[in-house]
Amino acid sequence: MASSATYALLLLLLFAASAAAESPTPATWPLQFHSILYVNYSGSLSLINLWYDWPNGRNFNIIQDQLGSISYDLEWNNGTSFFYSLDSAKTCSSAQLDVGILRPDWLDGAEYLGQESVDGFLCNVWQKLRFIWYYEDVVTKRPVHWEFYTGKSVGRSIHVMTFDVGAVLEDEKWQALYIVSRRKKLKLIVDLSTNSMLVTLNRNLKGF
Ligand SMILES: *[C@@H]1O[C@H](CO)[C@@H](O)[C@H](O)[C@H]1NC(C)=O
Ligand SMILES: *[C@@H]1O[C@H](CO)[C@@H](O)[C@H](O)[C@H]1NC(C)=O
Repeated sequence: MASSATYALLLLLLFAASAAAESPTPATWPLQFHSILYVNYSGSLSLINLWYDWPNGRNFNIIQDQLGSISYDLEWNNGTSFFYSLDSAKTCSSAQLDVGILRPDWLDGAEYLGQESVDGFLCNVWQKLRFIWYYEDVVTKRPVHWEFYTGKSVGRSIHVMTFDVGAVLEDEKWQALYIVSRRKKLKLIVDLSTNSMLVTLNRNLKGF
């Protein structure tokens, strides 16, 4: 009796262990890549050119609003970030954040949710901190889609259109040109690398 119970327990443990082992983890981000992202921010559409450059500690979002202006969001790993435009308004603001850019392994510890077909790609799906839902192509391990939620209904839905591993933007393009206006605005920062949530007062960063 005791031995069959032990045997059953052993089977259960083995089963649990193999189930855990089978649960996939998201691929770490390549150290450098360029991506064109199609973004739907609660109904406002934009195209973002994302230049992720971990070895140089910098991250650049060049944002084209639909039938609107282009803005530049440049972040350095020392926490300094610039948000500016080069059109006639020439707005610019800078902020000192408590966190740097996303680490390549920022998805570590994400909870696996299973597989789902998104944009026509079969994806593994994870969520982290109930803040981001991340969809990665099962076959190529490339990100296909992710969604951020910063409030119950405020969501930013991102579709990855291109993913060029190793692409690097030339140094001279990483310049913040104009520092004009400095208005203050509350910005919510979720630090995915340390799982902490920080609220800091920053200057005029466009809604997050
Ligand atoms: C954008 O997202 C909203 C929900 O926030 C949705 O109603 C709308 O259909 C989406 N638009 C596009 C073009 O995907
Ligand atoms: C961070 O690095 C950028 C680019 O080198 C620089 O412009 C900025 O002043 C630095 N910030 C701090 C706080 O050192």
